[in-house]
Amino acid sequence: MTPDRTGAGAVNPPAENAFVIRTAQLRMRFDHGEAEVAALRGVDLAVRAGEFLCVMGPSGSGKTTLLSILGCLARPTDGDYQLAGKNVTYVDEREAARVRRERIGFVFQGFSLVARSTALQNVELPLAYAHVSPSERRDRALAALSAVGLVDRADHLPNQLTDGQQQRVAVARALVIRPDVVLADEPTANLDADTAERLLDVLGEVHAGGVTIVMATQVREVAERGSRIVHLLDGRIDAEEQVAVSFRRVAGRSGSSTT
Ligand SMILES: Nc1ncnc2c1ncn2[C@@H]1O[C@H](COP(=O)(O)OP(=O)(O)OP(=O)(O)O)[C@@H](O)[C@H]1O
Ligand SMILES: [Mg+2]
Repeated sequence: MTPDRTGAGAVNPPAENAFVIRTAQLRMRFDHGEAEVAALRGVDLAVRAGEFLCVMGPSGSGKTTLLSILGCLARPTDGDYQLAGKNVTYVDEREAARVRRERIGFVFQGFSLVARSTALQNVELPLAYAHVSPSERRDRALAALSAVGLVDRADHLPNQLTDGQQQRVAVARALVIRPDVVLADEPTANLDADTAERLLDVLGEVHAGGVTIVMATQVREVAERGSRIVHLLDGRIDAEEQVAVSFRRVAGRSGSSTT
C-alpha cells in the first residue's frame, strides 16, 4: 500500500507498468562512409512482465542491434525506449552502465565468463559491483546456480565445465541481480543440439519462475520455446504470433516423434 504517486524517484513504476519494455519507432542507422545501413527502421515493441519473447529473423535483420538497444549497450538513432516505465533511450553512459548493472541480465553467445574465477565467483560478480555484502552475494549466487542445476559445480573453473554448463553459469549470472529482463542473443548458437535443448529447458524454467526474457534467434524451433514470437525482417517487425502453451511443452522434442 503505497499511495505515493507523485512519481518523483518512484521505485515501482505506476500503472502502465505491466510493460517491462516499450519501444516506439526505434531506428538505427550505421554509417559506412558513403553507404548507410538502416539496421532498424521503426520498431514498436511492447513486452509484458513475465513474457518470454523471441525475436526471430534471418541474419542481418537487426536482432542484435535491437537487443543492444534494449540492453542499453547502444543508443538508437531515433525513437524511444522505456524500461519498466522509465525512459532510458538517451541516458548518458554512466546511467546506461547503471541500468545494465542493476536491471538487465545478459546471456550472449560467447559466455564471457572470467576464466580464473570459479562458477560461484562468476555469478557473484554482478553483485560485487552492486556492493552487496559477501555473505548475501554467496547465498544469492548459490541460489542462482541452483536454479540452473549447477550448484554442485560452484567451485569449478570455466575450463572445467562443458560449453553447456558454462552457458548455464552465464544464465545464473544474468539472474542473480533479479533483473527486469534477461536478454539472450542466440544463446544456443554455439551449442550442440542436446546441450542447446538443455539450455532452452533451463530458460523455460527461469521463465516459469516469473522472469521476463527476450531471446533472439534465427531458428524457428528455438523461437517456439518462447511465449510469443516477433518476426524481424530488414529492420522491421514483419509479423507476430503467440505460441500455445500446449505446443510449447512438446516443442524442442522434434526429431524423436515417438509417443
Ligand atoms: N556496428 C555496426 N556498424 C555497422 N553496421 C552494423 C553494425 N552492427 C550491425 N550492422 C548492420 O546492421 C544490420 C543488422 O545487424 P544485426 O547484427 O542487428 O543483425 P542480426 O539479425 O543480429 O544478424 P545475425 O543473425 O547474423 O546475428 C546488418 O546489415 C549489419 O551489417
Ligand atoms: Mg545477431
